[in-house]
Amino acid sequence: MTHEKDSLIVFDTTLRDGEQSPGVTLNENEKVEIALQLSRLGVDICEAGFPIASPGDFAAVKRIAQEVGPLIEGRKTGKPMRICALARAVPADIERAYEAIKYAPSNRIHTFLATSDIHLQYKLKITREECIARATAAVKYAKSLGCEDVEFSPEDAGRSDRDFLCTILGAVIEAGATTLNIPDTVGYNTPEEFGSLMRHLIANTPGSDKAIWSTHCHNDLGLATANTLSGVLNGARQVEVAVNGIGERAGNTSLEEVVMAIHTHPDYFPVRHNVDTYQIYPTSQLVTKRTGMVIQPNKAIVGSNAFAHESGIHQDGVLKNKLTYEIIQPEVIGLPPPALFLGKHSGRNAFKTRIEELLGSVVYAHHFHEKPALLNSLFGKFKSLADTKKNGVSDDDILALLDDELHIRASGEQVYQLKSLHVMSGSGVSATATVTIIDTTREPAVTSPIIGSPRSEQAGQENQVAGLELSDAAVGHGPVHAVFSAINRVIGCHNVLAAYEVKAVTEGSDSLGKVVVRIHEGPDSSQGQIPKLIPRFEEIDSATYQGQGIDEDILVASAKAYINAINRMKSAKERQSKLEPVQRGEIEVIGGVVPSVPESRNVDV
Ligand code: KIV
Ligand code: ZN
Repeated sequence: MTHEKDSLIVFDTTLRDGEQSPGVTLNENEKVEIALQLSRLGVDICEAGFPIASPGDFAAVKRIAQEVGPLIEGRKTGKPMRICALARAVPADIERAYEAIKYAPSNRIHTFLATSDIHLQYKLKITREECIARATAAVKYAKSLGCEDVEFSPEDAGRSDRDFLCTILGAVIEAGATTLNIPDTVGYNTPEEFGSLMRHLIANTPGSDKAIWSTHCHNDLGLATANTLSGVLNGARQVEVAVNGIGERAGNTSLEEVVMAIHTHPDYFPVRHNVDTYQIYPTSQLVTKRTGMVIQPNKAIVGSNAFAHESGIHQDGVLKNKLTYEIIQPEVIGLPPPALFLGKHSGRNAFKTRIEELLGSVVYAHHFHEKPALLNSLFGKFKSLADTKKNGVSDDDILALLDDELHIRASGEQVYQLKSLHVMSGSGVSATATVTIIDTTREPAVTSPIIGSPRSEQAGQENQVAGLELSDAAVGHGPVHAVFSAINRVIGCHNVLAAYEVKAVTEGSDSLGKVVVRIHEGPDSSQGQIPKLIPRFEEIDSATYQGQGIDEDILVASAKAYINAINRMKSAKERQSKLEPVQRGEIEVIGGVVPSVPESRNVDV
């Protein structure tokens, strides 16, 4: 007799816990784009954000609920992804969460409150009785708004008293909670310990069969995936995970590791999942690009070395039969097959077809539908690059050009554009940079070619831009410092450089260089001071803005990236100043008061 396996609910928190990774800030468009890909990937629930945290978070969750919430394209279940929002156990958070998700046909409020004695005593300063009262009130309040599906998490469950957990979880089930999520918030547990906690709670919580039990493991000891799988073996039927394992501190449980562990052991785990494994690699790449969080090469499943065989013995074995050293075929996670040659003789159609193959039809349609200008502009850049790359333009080159174009388009208005750059450097001399930037918001109008394509001298009509030309020069400790200082002088900005990273898009000396920078507003540096590479601790708290640029010349790529980050900062500030402020002040709750709007994104999560 065959036994139908339980379905495992994959709850993705890339856009909420993942976005809490230090240094990661995604804008609204980027969040919608990632949510779209998560839907295509087949995740059951998408935790889209923490709406009370900021007007920007609220707007992104609402758009995801409206635009991605109804989609079923490519989904194995034929059902749309459930859209979830996080809320502390206070009415203002819960109202704001429901306001944002109510547009999705399938939605959920996820409310949480810490239960460990350490948190109760030092952070919340409440008794266990007050904790139970606050948690049940929160669940009832979420239900009273009309939200059928309410998840409750006892934060720091991994270090909470088991008997107290059974009591509070029984009370929230009674109050109407439909999912009970057990977070190992600080990544403290071991697999055996976490599995036995799950088993104990399911066996001893009153009414436990009325709810779904869930895991939420952090990776501080590198055990998140093992703990999650142990939770599943002991009765959990929902796993909270993030793409590439991003999240607070050492991160969250990695989606691809859990899914592929279950996939490669179909007889061992008592569950089946609904993820389309062929979408894992494209999703991982998208999250890497949008968050700027680079994946370590030896990362399981999605690292660049995950399918590379270096030793002669291994290579020999794989050539004879892949099964000798490969437990997963790379195509099963969607690693693109070796590309057909695309070079300077390739036509628009071959180029378009390749992009569609690389992105998949849903994401391709999202970016290109009714946007012929985007394809035209990309094709122009591809042709320019193909002229210089005699061995053909690779998939990575194409994705880098696309990524750069989309990044620029998603960055809001490109107020400043690089027109020209001249750098002199060498040993025994100070590096000097002279930069000309066009301020597109100012008169008198001039029409100037800008550096916008891999070969600017061949730039066509679409690289003409109008605005006021501004030039200045600066010296620096090295060429990159000189370039950034010259840009600071031209624009008169006050930035601290929090991160600078340069890498080659492909192998070979003709590779495109890609630069990613992160900046935030710092003390006055308008007098052309060199931006600091290492910010002081007290400077790190302000919002950071990521910029990127690609070019065959890495100094030009650096200048583009820095200007792009400044443009993003400017447009984010303008957007924020237009949004209505949410309620501020303090809210009374049982056992004290909490701020109605968290002061920082990390409050109490
Ligand atoms: O790690 C944690 O405890 C959380 C909760 C909000 C579930 O992220
Ligand atoms: Zn977490």
